Amino acid sequence: MLHFKIDSAKCTRCGQCVADCPSRIIEQSGDQIPFIRSESEVNCIHCQHCLAICPAAAVSIFGLDPAMSLPVAAGSFPTLEKMTNLVRGRRSVRRYQDVNVDPKLLQQLLAALGNAPSAINRMAVAITVIDDKEVMQRFRLKALQALAAAVAAGRVPEQHAYLVQAVPAWFEQQVDIIFRGAPHLLLISAGPESVCPPEDVNLALAYFELMAQSAGLGTVWCGLAKMVMELLPELKAVVGVPEGHYYYAMLFGVPAVHYARTVQRDTASHIHRVQV
Ligand SMILES: Cc1cc2nc3c(=O)[nH]c(=O)nc-3n(C[C@H](O)[C@H](O)[C@H](O)COP(=O)(O)O)c2cc1C
Repeated sequence: MLHFKIDSAKCTRCGQCVADCPSRIIEQSGDQIPFIRSESEVNCIHCQHCLAICPAAAVSIFGLDPAMSLPVAAGSFPTLEKMTNLVRGRRSVRRYQDVNVDPKLLQQLLAALGNAPSAINRMAVAITVIDDKEVMQRFRLKALQALAAAVAAGRVPEQHAYLVQAVPAWFEQQVDIIFRGAPHLLLISAGPESVCPPEDVNLALAYFELMAQSAGLGTVWCGLAKMVMELLPELKAVVGVPEGHYYYAMLFGVPAVHYARTVQRDTASHIHRVQV
């Protein structure tokens, strides 16, 4: 049951909910109140566009009260200049303070991830987080010890050869080139219930990165964390990546570094203008 309800006192019969429904399941005869046939409900993708678009806040679905949504008006979004500054000024941070991120801030960032787009709005990503630096330190030690054992046993195949140098870096110089000394790890995964697992996962991570950096946190995508977990699946089990899920990892924390300026990569994208 979708519990699609329209407050007839508020509804202006404007038809916006009908026109915007991506599944085209909302119907309206003439200037009557819009409705969804029970046999059409199965086609709803749960996007809540009907609730979001109604200018009169007359539409409720899934029992949600439109008054609980944030209003979106002129000035609600960051300006293009601010967004572009964020995109240009965001950096991969590889030096962190030895402190935990404020749990309330982390909760706010993770909760907002439900708003990232996902194919057919499946919202099927699973979020795994190490939110305590002591837990992260234990995971780091476990990973580096397991990696050292694999290197010693000659169990590191060619495609993971880059990881070998992490062992002397850590055990001889106390430099963590895999997890960058970060206090936290975010791992997002998606299984077969997602239509496009890599896209859903990486979009959620990209949204997290931009929000986190706008809040003053540092982040870095961590292919090496994935590499070490693929090499040593027992580490995957430690963090609890569900079997058969696509996943990717990101490190984050309070940065111990400040970038004074942006890099200059605006010309780095190759733009191909199609002309038909
Ligand atoms: C998919 C992906 C995987 C990455 N893996 C790592 C990693 O394992 N370790 C690391 O230090 N940086 C990693 N990076 C960060 C890139 O090196 C970085 O984005 C690039 O050098 C550009 O620097 P910037 O992010 O500061 O602009 C990764 C980035 C991406 C997108």
